Amino acid sequence: MLIEKFLKQAKEEIIMDTVLSDEFMDKVQDNFAPIESLMAYYRCAIMEVETKFNVLNEQFSLQYDRNPIESIKARVKSFDSILKKVKRKQIPFSLESIEENINDIAGVRVICSFQEDIYMLADCLLQQDDVRLIERKDYIKNPKPGGYRSLHLIIEVPIFLEKEKRPMKVEVQLRTIAMDFWASLEHKLRYKKNIPESEAEYLAKELVECAGISASLDQRMEAIRDRMEAAQEKIS
Ligand code: GTP
Ligand code: MG
Repeated sequence: MLIEKFLKQAKEEIIMDTVLSDEFMDKVQDNFAPIESLMAYYRCAIMEVETKFNVLNEQFSLQYDRNPIESIKARVKSFDSILKKVKRKQIPFSLESIEENINDIAGVRVICSFQEDIYMLADCLLQQDDVRLIERKDYIKNPKPGGYRSLHLIIEVPIFLEKEKRPMKVEVQLRTIAMDFWASLEHKLRYKKNIPESEAEYLAKELVECAGISASLDQRMEAIRDRMEAAQEKIS
């Protein structure tokens, strides 16, 4: 993104209610080139993590004739989202502070076939000796009050540059197709505005119930798979 475009956007959207000080704008100018390289490092970290999952998927499919991963989505947080988070979390605006305090600049979402695969893949990833676990949040065992389910890992992986090895943080979200289906639709609906409070309350309850239904669907599909495998073993 061009610095001019970014500055315009920052002025218009990000800190709408406060006038951006000259000091802040100078900081943005000073930090712009280094921010671009930091973003490139995050893209590299994403490549490393995606490759790790692709390798696991490949190996699993050779060994068990089945792919635990349905799809992988990855993204680097946009610059304006980063700035919004800087403001929301009230952290200092410097590269060091952004890297230190914002854990989801690099995000990898792994969509799995079954819940069991989520834990198997997470374990395999965390056993690798270049992966360091920083934080683990299990929203499958402990769903969020709104119904959200997924396993979140904040990890650190090294990227190898010309003259240095640089550890980078990546947020990994592992979920089933059903969990992803729910989260994607809920995310879209969350931005609907001007809904009366009583109606919003009802809709929130509905969303929690739908999350429960989709979780039980996951369990039933997994039970079907288990029975199929058991039946197959009997024959062979
Ligand atoms: P952030 O500072 O917003 O990242 O919160 P956090 O550090 O407490 O992270 P948390 O584990 O709550 O969630 C991080 C990410 O998970 C979000 O950016 C979303 O991608 C996803 N997420 C968490 N809760 C929900 C939810 O209720 N609905 C949906 N659709 N996604 C969610
Ligand atoms: Mg986040």
